[in-house]
Amino acid sequence: MGAYAKAYEQSLADPERFWLDAAGLIDWDVFPERALDDANAPFYRWFPGGRLNTSYNALDRHIERGAGDRTALIWDSAMEPAQRRYTYRRLRDEVARAAGALAGLGVGEGDRVIVYMPMVPEAVITMLACARIGAVHSVVFGGFAPRELAVRIDDARPKVVVTASCGIEPTRVVPYKPILDQALDMAAHRPDHVLLLQRDRQRAELGPGELDWADVVPGAAPADPVPVDSTDPLYILYTSGTTGKPKGVLRTNGDHAVALAWSMGAIYDIGAGDVWWTASDVGWVVGHSYIVYGPLLVGATTVMYEGKPVGTPDAGAFWRVISEYGVKKLFAAPTALRIIKKVDPDGAELAKYDLGSLSGVFMAGERLDPETWQWATEKLGVPVIDHWWQTETGWAIAANPQGLEPMPVKPGSATVPMPGWDVRIVDATGAELPPGQEGEIVIKLPLPPGALATLWGDDERFLDSYLSRHEGYYTTGDSGYRDEDGYLFVMGRVDDVINVAGHRLSTGAMEAALAAHPAVAECAVIGVPDPVKGQIPYGLVVLKAGAEVAEDELRAELIAAVRREVGPVAAFRDVAVVPALPKTRSGKILRKTMRGLAAGREEPVPPTIEDPAVLEAIKPLLRLHE
Ligand code: COA
Ligand code: AMP
Repeated sequence: MGAYAKAYEQSLADPERFWLDAAGLIDWDVFPERALDDANAPFYRWFPGGRLNTSYNALDRHIERGAGDRTALIWDSAMEPAQRRYTYRRLRDEVARAAGALAGLGVGEGDRVIVYMPMVPEAVITMLACARIGAVHSVVFGGFAPRELAVRIDDARPKVVVTASCGIEPTRVVPYKPILDQALDMAAHRPDHVLLLQRDRQRAELGPGELDWADVVPGAAPADPVPVDSTDPLYILYTSGTTGKPKGVLRTNGDHAVALAWSMGAIYDIGAGDVWWTASDVGWVVGHSYIVYGPLLVGATTVMYEGKPVGTPDAGAFWRVISEYGVKKLFAAPTALRIIKKVDPDGAELAKYDLGSLSGVFMAGERLDPETWQWATEKLGVPVIDHWWQTETGWAIAANPQGLEPMPVKPGSATVPMPGWDVRIVDATGAELPPGQEGEIVIKLPLPPGALATLWGDDERFLDSYLSRHEGYYTTGDSGYRDEDGYLFVMGRVDDVINVAGHRLSTGAMEAALAAHPAVAECAVIGVPDPVKGQIPYGLVVLKAGAEVAEDELRAELIAAVRREVGPVAAFRDVAVVPALPKTRSGKILRKTMRGLAAGREEPVPPTIEDPAVLEAIKPLLRLHE
């Protein structure tokens, strides 16, 4: 039996032993006696009785073992442009001071801190500072609009919001302070303090009670790491569900640290001293797990890049970063490679750099399409690995474990389930499907360490959203199939969540923005294929009777509304006015049918359809997106 098969089998047959062994990768104040506590199933708890501090594990312990001068974090901003290097000692010291500053503002164990920041080192420092004092961070991606931020503020009820004066996008500076001010106007909750990092590009004016990072953090007394229970919360990360209300995925300390440390070695083949680069944003789970926690937990050097794959300044940006810092492995979203491929299909920019350090590329966020896989494999000459996971799972459900046992790549497949993930393909009744047949992808409980513990403050919604559809199983919301060799092919979402350039978004939130327009009677937003972004949202609106508005004007207003209400990352640019929306007799809009048609699939007309002519009438519009 190969190393993968052995590990996988052991993880399911004897999870106690498998995960207690993995727990040895972490330094505990109190080592857990058991791995799994299922007394409260389906609310499983990992490593009960264990006590640790995640920030200590990510920083101090490496210094104590003599690696204080090793580079922990390299920040490269193509936007400023600027570069900064932090040794483990410097990063620990800055984190300790930021932790002291937060404690000085009244933040203690279990208190929440919202982090609304661009890709600057202080975002990482704030996250680790929260972990150091047992506080719970909730990072909000900078591309979200005030309303999205407001919803998160009201749900997390933070004591402090940490922000910056601006983010820098290629065509504009994004002032964060007005976005935060608007969000606070909309929110019912009031944080005690706002702590703001001034960036030279555009400074912000501070109001009463608002504090400048430079006045508060550098002079603060450093705080020591506080041991917390393994099962204490580390962070909340909001992700899009099918409704407009985001879900607060809650991650706990001990299992998260164990799973990520294990994944760094087994999946990515990265250990102490290796240079690792995740080209994502700290606002996404990929950023949490693999810009911040994973690489630091194992003593690697993590690269944090503020910039884009193209245009900052050219399509060689990624290759520059790899060659400049000697990156061993890159983790990015397929959309990033597709953008580079579009601008530089022959790899002329790539030829300018020495990529000798690079030994592998990992892709996630959406399916890695075979064409992009082919291009990247040829151009880079290293294994290009697709792997599948979700905000909820925290790390890969399926991957090709490069450290454990590299397996042959099959283009279009995320390879095989990782240890701990008992993946099944089922039909709507929960019956398992044979190889080759596509169905819902579900995971038999318990989920392994590192997966979500619950949704913040809403156990009911956790059960409803993930555990109620098939008893004893976690519903991923993705569909797919397995082939005869057990390789997993993840084909797409079965719900109304869409993935635009690797950004997970809710069509429900966009529909709410459209529906608020006075001329709109009803609307639907569906994800349609896009050659670069993977998917883009497409809006269909029905006007109120008697609404007098020019279509061009209406379109512009609707596009602006989504940008304002959801944010620029929604990339909402396409909306059509239609006489009616196809529905079932009970009034449910046939989003799935429309989605399928737009993706070029032959969709059966549901027998419950109210009026087939309505669907026929919009078919040509949907076909435009094939
Ligand atoms: N703050 C403010 N605005 C932002 C933003 C941020 N942090 N990130 C993106 N935006 C804006 C962009 O400026 C753009 O605005 P525009 O409509 O005025 O041009 C809009 O949102 C759409 O952005 P996006 O679709 O992300 O395109 P892009 O060209 O800015 O970036 C990528 C392309 C590939 C770099 C980016 O989409 C990306 O990093 N995707 C991967 C996401 C990810 O990491 N997912 C996790 C899995 S790895
Ligand atoms: P997020 O929570 O933002 O990480 O998005 C998770 C969703 O992105 C998954 O449910 C999938 O729909 C999609 N996804 C992520 N990685 C992959 C992948 N490698 N292959 C297919 N879909 C993916």
